[in-house]
Amino acid sequence: MTVRKEDILSRPLPHHVAIIMDGNGRWAKRQNKERTFGHIHGIESVRKITEAARELSIPYLTLYTFSTENWHRPKHEVDTLMQLLAETAVKEKDNLVENNIKLNIIGDLSSLPDQVKESFEQVKKATGKNHALTLSLAVNYGGRNEIVRMIRRLLKTRQAPEPEKISEEVLENFLDSGNLPDVDLMIRTGGEKRISNFLLWKIAYAELYFTSVLWPDFGKDEFYEAIADYQKRERRYGKTSEQIKNE
Ligand code: IPE
Ligand code: IPE
Ligand code: MG
Repeated sequence: MTVRKEDILSRPLPHHVAIIMDGNGRWAKRQNKERTFGHIHGIESVRKITEAARELSIPYLTLYTFSTENWHRPKHEVDTLMQLLAETAVKEKDNLVENNIKLNIIGDLSSLPDQVKESFEQVKKATGKNHALTLSLAVNYGGRNEIVRMIRRLLKTRQAPEPEKISEEVLENFLDSGNLPDVDLMIRTGGEKRISNFLLWKIAYAELYFTSVLWPDFGKDEFYEAIADYQKRERRYGKTSEQIKNE
């Protein structure tokens, strides 16, 4: 049964949704096409889900776009992905501005092609003051790599804190995702039930949702279904069910 938008709007929504957009390659293979054909169609899903998040007033959406491990793919696929990233960011600039969406990038940008870095810079600048939705793209992102770079940044600060002063809050400031709230709902499309090195710190207490729908087939209805599933869950954070009900 399809979930209606009004139904999910009547219950508490997740504040931060993170998505592992998986299954583009298989989607293309099923149609006897090259894997890159799936990536091109995946962009349409990005557009639809961003629009859905905006319509629902979900303030944070984070999309796993290219992992630190994805460099191991065939060169042709990596090159195409990089080109699509650079082109799409610029193409979507006006749309993001009109819809009050801010583009944020997390990951190690230093080793990305200049064209990709420049187009991200351009769109970040144009959307920097927007505030209805923060759309974060995780590019050359790895959860462990983010923690390594967090420690490097911490040690490079002029007045590194005393060991006793180090807390979760202090450390968070040095994460790429430090200015994002904890993830409430993490969705993975494509059928695999794994994290694949995504947002290790910020998903500590996220609700996980796995669907076999391949990313290019994931649209607003599928997104609403994931949110409806999230809304049925009881988030206890270590407490008892009774405690939660009395809060
Ligand atoms: C996800 O789809 C997109 C990226 C990792 C860039 P895949 O390309 O991993 O698709 P499958 O998992 O091989 O089908
Ligand atoms: C995770 O998908 C990375 C992105 C969606 C960008 P992968 O397809 O690379 O992950 P694995 O290989 O199945 O773990
Ligand atoms: Mg995959």
